[in-house]
Amino acid sequence: METSKTTEAIRELTTHSAEETIAFGRTLVDLLAPPKLVLLRGDLGAGKTTLVKGIAAAFEAASEEDVTSPTFTLIHEYRGARANLFHIDLYRIDTQRELDTLALDDLRGDNSILLIEWGEKFPRFVRERDLEISLDRDGDTVRRIKLIR
Ligand SMILES: Nc1ncnc2c1ncn2[C@@H]1O[C@H](COP(=O)(O)OP(=O)(O)OP(=O)(O)O)[C@@H](O)[C@H]1O
Ligand SMILES: [Mg+2]
Repeated sequence: METSKTTEAIRELTTHSAEETIAFGRTLVDLLAPPKLVLLRGDLGAGKTTLVKGIAAAFEAASEEDVTSPTFTLIHEYRGARANLFHIDLYRIDTQRELDTLALDDLRGDNSILLIEWGEKFPRFVRERDLEISLDRDGDTVRRIKLIR
């Protein structure tokens, strides 16, 4: 049987600065109540990591300044009272074997929120995601953000 995912845009907005994108991230606590697997989509510099700053701050899991790109470490973990956030960057991960070494399934749990950049490279995450947040760059400071369920 063929299964297709129905997608529904639940929110669209435009931000005009990094601060505005962080502020938007701060509004997502209820929507992101764990457990969740969230894909963050958008080109290099679109603002995915910037958005995570707001999300982590809202969950009181990390301060904005402490959230940095997991470019080389691939996974950053931020433990909050209400959720454990795992910020994951798969930009440098190309094969299933490399992905397996990260053991992302072990991170999933009732209290976990996985925020994955470049996760759409692997069809499995597109199928399993609870939510997708896409960011489109429009010039230096304008970002069009779409939330899809
Ligand atoms: N409206 C905006 N929203 C988010 N970031 C913005 C905005 N305007 C400017 N910026 C800047 O754009 C950059 C976004 O970088 P960020 O690391 O968040 O992107 P990214 O999508 O995670 O990229 P990568 O795929 O390389 O990890 C930052 O330097 C940020 O200050
Ligand atoms: Mg990033």
